[in-house]
Amino acid sequence: MSSQRANIPRKQSALQWIRISDQDPFQWTNSAPVIEPSDLGVDQVLVENHAISLNPVDYKMASTNFSNTKLPAVTGYDISGRIVAIGNKVKDFQVGDEVFGMLNLNSSNGGGAIQQYSVAEIDTLVPKPSDVDHVHAATLGVAFLSAMDGLRQVKIDSSTSVYIPGGSGGVGHFSVQIAQIRGAKQVTTSASKEEGIQILKEKYRIKDVLNHATENIVDRVMELTDGKGVDVVYDATYLPSSFDKTIQMVKEGGSWIVLRRFGQDITKDTERVEKRKGKLLLADLGRYWLGNERTQLKSFCQYSLSQGVKWIKEGQLKPYINRIIKLEEAQDALELIKQGKSGFGKIVIRNSFE
Ligand SMILES: NC(=O)c1ccc[n+]([C@@H]2O[C@H](COP(=O)([O-])OP(=O)(O)OC[C@H]3O[C@@H](n4cnc5c(N)ncnc54)[C@H](OP(=O)(O)O)[C@@H]3O)[C@@H](O)[C@H]2O)c1
Repeated sequence: MSSQRANIPRKQSALQWIRISDQDPFQWTNSAPVIEPSDLGVDQVLVENHAISLNPVDYKMASTNFSNTKLPAVTGYDISGRIVAIGNKVKDFQVGDEVFGMLNLNSSNGGGAIQQYSVAEIDTLVPKPSDVDHVHAATLGVAFLSAMDGLRQVKIDSSTSVYIPGGSGGVGHFSVQIAQIRGAKQVTTSASKEEGIQILKEKYRIKDVLNHATENIVDRVMELTDGKGVDVVYDATYLPSSFDKTIQMVKEGGSWIVLRRFGQDITKDTERVEKRKGKLLLADLGRYWLGNERTQLKSFCQYSLSQGVKWIKEGQLKPYINRIIKLEEAQDALELIKQGKSGFGKIVIRNSFE
């Protein structure tokens, strides 16, 4: 293990998470520790992060710590990079391999993405093909996996109508594309900014993009479906105000998929969907990492990540990279995401290693 030490610095740049708060939880540093390779868990690797994609959970975790992470730590969960050290039992990966995937939501002991070197579990990494760059591969983390987690639970074919509010967000823009790739008959979405509406229509070829800020979206979806409602709603907005509307669009016998916070009470929603003779399905990555579905984490993540990168190679999936920033700009970018001003799709950090 000591030979693994040679080219790994002992200190690194990082946006450190220093207090559990929604006020100034982070502090920039150039001297955060890099884990000793000998301290890696047997199934862990150390990754030199070439790209990191950001998500709302990166700042939300800082104020809630629902993963019980030991501070100081680092948040952020989507990485693509090169393995620089491996744990004792790692057989499937070697030092030098290029990989991407999602990091443990509990980022104690060297985890967390918003730094130069991160500890990753091998269960949620896959090899990065050489013809997909790190910036694109890094987008296939929390947002993409959430989109896959929701839509994997329903059958979608050429007879299926789907409504996905918020198609301009990270989860939303992946979800509309997955529904299209799987051959849905009709994919309808919403956005509130003109730029987002145009991108959804022109780049992603979605005919009906509603404006959730100015239109009565329930009436519009009913009009578009001859008063019947849609077979599948995937509401990944996390907004009760949106849930109140999207539940009304579910066709009798249809599915209402809702992205949920781990451990939330769903009694009210179950009652609401039963009244419509529909089915409530939950999407939530927390249940794999922190709940009783840990045994499914590896198969779900490795299948989904491999599928995502295959779709990118085939030109079927197009992650929208709104801007590429430097690591030291992460805090400002998280603030933009918090304020709903981050723009369409994803913000990605690119690190350079000389
Ligand atoms: N539990 C989990 O496992 C999990 C996983 C991933 C994400 N999440 C949560 O899910 C939410 C979405 O994540 P994200 O990465 O997609 O966030 P994001 O990239 O910040 O996108 C948020 C989207 O919500 C849209 N929106 C805002 N108000 C809306 C409304 N009233 N109706 C419809 N859409 C609305 C915005 O569209 P416009 O800007 O066009 O208005 C924006 O595109 C976040 O709260 C995130 O924390 C949870």
